Amino acid sequence: MSKSLFIKTYGCQMNVYDSARMADVLAPLGYVASDTPLGADLVILNTCHIREKASEKVFSELGRLREIKEATPGMLIAVAGCTAQAEGAEIIRRMPFVDVVVGPQAYHRLPELIARASRAGGAALDTDFPVDSKFDHLPEMATPPGPMAFLTIQEGCDKFCTFCVVPYTRGAEFSRPVAEIEREARRLIAAGARELTLLGQNVNAFHGRDEQGHEIGLGTLIRRLARIDGLARIRYMTSHPRDVDDDLIAAHGAVPKLMPYLHLPIQSGADRILDAMNRGHTTAHFLATVERMRRARPDLALSSDFIVGFPGESEAEFEATLALVREIRFASAFSFKYSARPGTPAALMEGQIPESVKDERLQRLQTLLREQTDAFNHASLGRIVPVLFERPGRHPGQFIGRSPWLQAVHAHAPQASIGEIHDIRLTHMKPNSLMGELVDTAACAGAAA
Ligand code: SAH
Ligand code: SF4
Ligand code: F3S
Repeated sequence: MSKSLFIKTYGCQMNVYDSARMADVLAPLGYVASDTPLGADLVILNTCHIREKASEKVFSELGRLREIKEATPGMLIAVAGCTAQAEGAEIIRRMPFVDVVVGPQAYHRLPELIARASRAGGAALDTDFPVDSKFDHLPEMATPPGPMAFLTIQEGCDKFCTFCVVPYTRGAEFSRPVAEIEREARRLIAAGARELTLLGQNVNAFHGRDEQGHEIGLGTLIRRLARIDGLARIRYMTSHPRDVDDDLIAAHGAVPKLMPYLHLPIQSGADRILDAMNRGHTTAHFLATVERMRRARPDLALSSDFIVGFPGESEAEFEATLALVREIRFASAFSFKYSARPGTPAALMEGQIPESVKDERLQRLQTLLREQTDAFNHASLGRIVPVLFERPGRHPGQFIGRSPWLQAVHAHAPQASIGEIHDIRLTHMKPNSLMGELVDTAACAGAAA
C-alpha cells in the first residue's frame, strides 16, 4: 500500500540532494512524495543549523506540525539534517511528538528508525557518524532529476572556521570514490539531467580515489566527467579559497563544459578578521586566486559569501570588505549578519557586535552587492547567450532557464522544451532575472555551453 511522504528542506544544496536521497531510501517501503504535510504518513524536516534564525525556524515549524499530527492518525514526524545532528536530544525533550531524529550521515538507516519508532511509540534517535557510509546504501533514484541536478562528491569539513557549525554537524571531511561518482553522474544524465553541480562543503578539497587507488583532485574529476555524452554543463560548489589548486584553475581554461562561474566565499576583506575566523588565507591570496582564475577563463563571473559583524570587526575592517568588493566586482553574492552559534569558538569571543551595527553594515554591503549584480546583468543585455531551460514559466510557451553565468532567464519559446539549450538574446532586466527572446529554432542538443 502506498504511503505519503512530505519532505521540507531548509539550508544549502547539500540538503536538497539529501532530501532526494531520503525519498529514494523510503521509496521501497511504499512512500510516495506528496507536496503537503496534510494527511501525510511521514513528514521529514531536513534542517539547517548554520545561523540562529535557520534553526529557530525548525522549532516553529514543528509547533505547526504538531497540530496536523494530532488530526492525522498514524502520522510520523522525523527531523533530519544539521539541526537534528546538533540538537537531537533537545528536540526530543522539547518536542516529544517527534518520532525520529536522524543526522546527515545516518539517513540510510531511516527504514529501521521508522520501524523502531512505530513499534516502540517513543522517539528513535540516530546521530552517529557510521563507519559504513550512507553512500554505500543508496538505492536507485526514485524520482528523475530535473535538467539541473546536484551530485554530492565530498562532504564534511575539517577547517573549523571559528564561526561555523558545519564541522560538527556534517563531521570529518571525506571524498566519494571516483567510480561511484561517475556511475551516479551517468545515471543522472540517463534520467534527463543536462547539467551537474558537484557538491561539497569544501568541494575543491575533493581527493577521491580512482580505479587504480590514486587520489585525484577536483580539476581531474571534472575532466573525467566532461567526457560523459549528454552532459552539457558542469558546475561545483562550495569551494574554499585555500583549496584552489593549479589543476582546477587549468580546468577552467580547458574544459568548455565547465561553466564560467565560480562561487568562492571570502567572508571578510580584512586580514585580521580572516585570521580570527581561522580562514587560513589572506585577502592578497584571495585576490591572486581570482586573478589567476580570470586569466584562465576571462569571462568568469564571481560570487561569494560575506559575514558582517564578526566579533571585534571595526568600522575600518568592515570598510575593507567594501573596498575588496569594489576591487573584485561580483556577479552575485550572499551576505549575512554574524550569528553566534553555541559550541563555536567565535561565540565566546570578546567584542560581539550589537545587532543594530550588524544591520547597518549588512545594508551597506548589500546595497553595494546589489549594484554590482545589476551592473553585471545590465552588461549582458543585447548579448546572445545559451540558456538551459529548466522549467515552464508563468505564461504559455514561456520557459525559465539559466545562462552559463547562472543568471535566471525567462524566454518565450513555444517550440522548445525543458532540458534543451537554446540561444537567447537578452532584452530586459528584472530585479532577479533577465528576459530574452529565442534566436535559434533548432535545439542545440549536446552543445558545450
Ligand atoms: N564551506 C563554505 C561555506 C558553508 S556555510 C565555505 O567555507 O565558504 C555557507 C555560508 O554561511 C558561509 O560561507 C558563511 O558566509 C555563512 N555562515 C556560516 N556560519 C555563519 C554564522 N555563524 N553566522 C553568519 N553566517 C554564517
Ligand atoms: Fe564552515 Fe569554514 Fe568548513 Fe566552510 S570551511 S564549512 S565556513 S568551517
Ligand atoms: Fe545548513 Fe547544514 Fe547546509 S548547517 S548550510 S544544511 S551543511
